[in-house]
Amino acid sequence: MTELPARPPFALRARLLSPLADGGWLDEPDGVVEVDVGGRITFAGPASESSSTASAVDLRPLVLLPGLIDLHAHLPQLPNAGLGSGLDLLTWLDRYIFPLERSYDRAVAERQAPAAFRAFAAAGTTTVVAYAALWPDSTDAAFEAAEAHGIRAVIGKVMMDRLTYDAAIRETDILETSLRQSDELASRWHGRDDGRLSYAFTPRFAVSCSAEMLRESASLAARHGAYWQTHLSEDAGEIEEVLRLFPGSTDYLDVYERAGGLGARTILAHAIHLSDDEVRRLVASGSHVAHCPASNLFLSSGMMPLGRYRDAGMSVGLGSDVAAGPEVSIFSVMRAGAVTQRVLELTGRADAGRALRPLDWLRLATLGGAAALGQESIGSIEVGREADVIAVDPRFTTPLPEDDPPTVAEDLASRLIFRPHPNMVRGAWVRGRLLAGPPGVDAIG
Ligand code: GUN
Ligand code: FE
Repeated sequence: MTELPARPPFALRARLLSPLADGGWLDEPDGVVEVDVGGRITFAGPASESSSTASAVDLRPLVLLPGLIDLHAHLPQLPNAGLGSGLDLLTWLDRYIFPLERSYDRAVAERQAPAAFRAFAAAGTTTVVAYAALWPDSTDAAFEAAEAHGIRAVIGKVMMDRLTYDAAIRETDILETSLRQSDELASRWHGRDDGRLSYAFTPRFAVSCSAEMLRESASLAARHGAYWQTHLSEDAGEIEEVLRLFPGSTDYLDVYERAGGLGARTILAHAIHLSDDEVRRLVASGSHVAHCPASNLFLSSGMMPLGRYRDAGMSVGLGSDVAAGPEVSIFSVMRAGAVTQRVLELTGRADAGRALRPLDWLRLATLGGAAALGQESIGSIEVGREADVIAVDPRFTTPLPEDDPPTVAEDLASRLIFRPHPNMVRGAWVRGRLLAGPPGVDAIG
């Protein structure tokens, strides 16, 4: 029986597969990862070259991968995952989401958020960027749950001063109240635990926010050095509504540009229907995009021409967007992304661009997400990085129990993406601290 190490320092022996910051891959059939007392990786390479091989916890035939990074999720929405497929975004929000978020008070968050973080970790996600609900006390509860759980998290209280579900507050007070509450939350949480927890100012999207809300939230984010996150160009009806609400704007991106919302600490979810000019300006601003293909298929929102965006130099990571995305698993999101690219090719879309290979998806889900967050200490298994890693049992992905998992890296990545198994993630660590959620290796005997 193998016991997973709960705290650093330790060494793990396993198959290693990780993108490298220089563009290459660590692909080691029998490797060791050494983690020091501070949770940093001090060695990652062949077992034959490690001084810790004899004392390493032997996880073979499990694979160690960098922990997955989910750039976009909604904590209060998990209970309605999988409901309302094919509804248009604004109808789905009204019918399935706003009532759920309205009820996400502190008590509900205290009950649900710990389970949500365990579910993310069980799916292999070690960093999650999440929206809470409108309520500051339930946002506090979400942060407290993340702090106790150990997951790396970026969280923000949703801000809305129009199209809102907050009936209790006077309309004239909403802007000021929301800014003050968000400011206080950022002061309390941004940078907590040596940067493991961060704050994101979270104006929901242009349909829900006045120009002042967008502008003032961006200015507060800059003052705190915190993130600024919102939704962009997800759905045809939404885009139409934004252009109606902001008649002076040339396009959807322009609304956020004018608010001073774009920049290196900005994460824009979806961004499916962008013109060439929007793509160019978004890239020039240094902003980042959370690609949420599972959600985009579920709500019939559209298909991102990811190849074209990447050719333009866009910084892209992946997001589950639960609950518009039906699953928390970023492996499932990779598969939805790959399917989307195939459909673009098959339907002859001129802007389909170059298709991504399985290893490209794995890079997007790890180093891509880390780059989007400006967190260069995570995203790969490399010396000097923090040990945010997951142990995956590839035997779970085989069609027949006696089958051997693939040995070639590209095939192994393909298996994990196209045949993900709900129990294949056996362990997840952040900074070398074991997270609750995955079942551990004991369960496989
Ligand atoms: N746009 C504004 N709010 C939301 C949301 O909660 N989910 C998704 N998918 N899109 C949004
Ligand atoms: Fe979303």
